[in-house]
Amino acid sequence: MNANQAATEPLVELSHVEKRFGDLHVLKDINLKVAKGDVLVVIGPSGSGKSTMCRTINRLETIDSGDIRIDGHPLPQEGKDLAKLRAEVGMVFQSFNLFANKTILENVTLAPIKVRHMAKKDAEDLAMGLLARVGVDSQASKMPSQLSGGQQQRVAIARALAMHPKVMLFDEPTSALDPEMVNEVLDVMVELAHEDMTMICVTHEMGFARKVANRIVFMADGQILEEGTPDEFFENPQTDRAKDFLSKILTH
Ligand SMILES: Nc1ncnc2c1ncn2[C@@H]1O[C@H](COP(=O)(O)OP(=O)(O)OP(=O)(O)O)[C@@H](O)[C@H]1O
Ligand SMILES: [Mg+2]
Repeated sequence: MNANQAATEPLVELSHVEKRFGDLHVLKDINLKVAKGDVLVVIGPSGSGKSTMCRTINRLETIDSGDIRIDGHPLPQEGKDLAKLRAEVGMVFQSFNLFANKTILENVTLAPIKVRHMAKKDAEDLAMGLLARVGVDSQASKMPSQLSGGQQQRVAIARALAMHPKVMLFDEPTSALDPEMVNEVLDVMVELAHEDMTMICVTHEMGFARKVANRIVFMADGQILEEGTPDEFFENPQTDRAKDFLSKILTH
């Protein structure tokens, strides 16, 4: 492969992905290429398949047909390779999913020690650096329940970053937060974007989408209906579904 091809090879590629839950057709012929450094924002009505699409990318959901590749490699089916994939694809969910019975520090060191076989001291140094980066290093010895939602989400981001992921998936990371905590999490995401992290973000934070995303994907009824730059999408949506969605969301 020459340098030019390497530069254009997508980091994440979904081709003709189909997924059903019983009779419900949730992902319909999804085709998506995410390049290194892209900040992709996925928006769309509730139930349109945004979370399911994210979950297929680190194989929390299987797909019925089609193909998903990370850095050119098809997703592994199981075992060690799957654990490795999960490490390469960092994920932050809407609900804070820290391990409740472990300290903040242990939450961040667990995977580097278990999956990467890092020495405890090295993992702790790494974790403290990341906790400082997201502004919660002073909370390291606390339990998750002692932190605010915004702090917990920042720990969840640090925990994902500890595995040096190739791509970060965010599924509505701020939607369960009290309003005053939303910005502290968005600020960390903005910083990651400026550091060229490849990011796929499901979010209804339109300010973030407009300012930080380089591409917007609009999903409805299990399909990608529109894809474009924030300017193209917000200024000139093409489909009635997108126009209708935007008119609802932007009047708030
Ligand atoms: N495990 C499951 N079993 C059955 N149906 C499911 C499952 N997970 C999701 N669904 C259904 O699949 C469809 C897509 O769900 P998904 O969570 O991907 O939507 P979404 O776009 O993320 O919605 P929201 O904006 O509400 O988070 C919905 O109709 C949902 O009820
Ligand atoms: Mg969802």
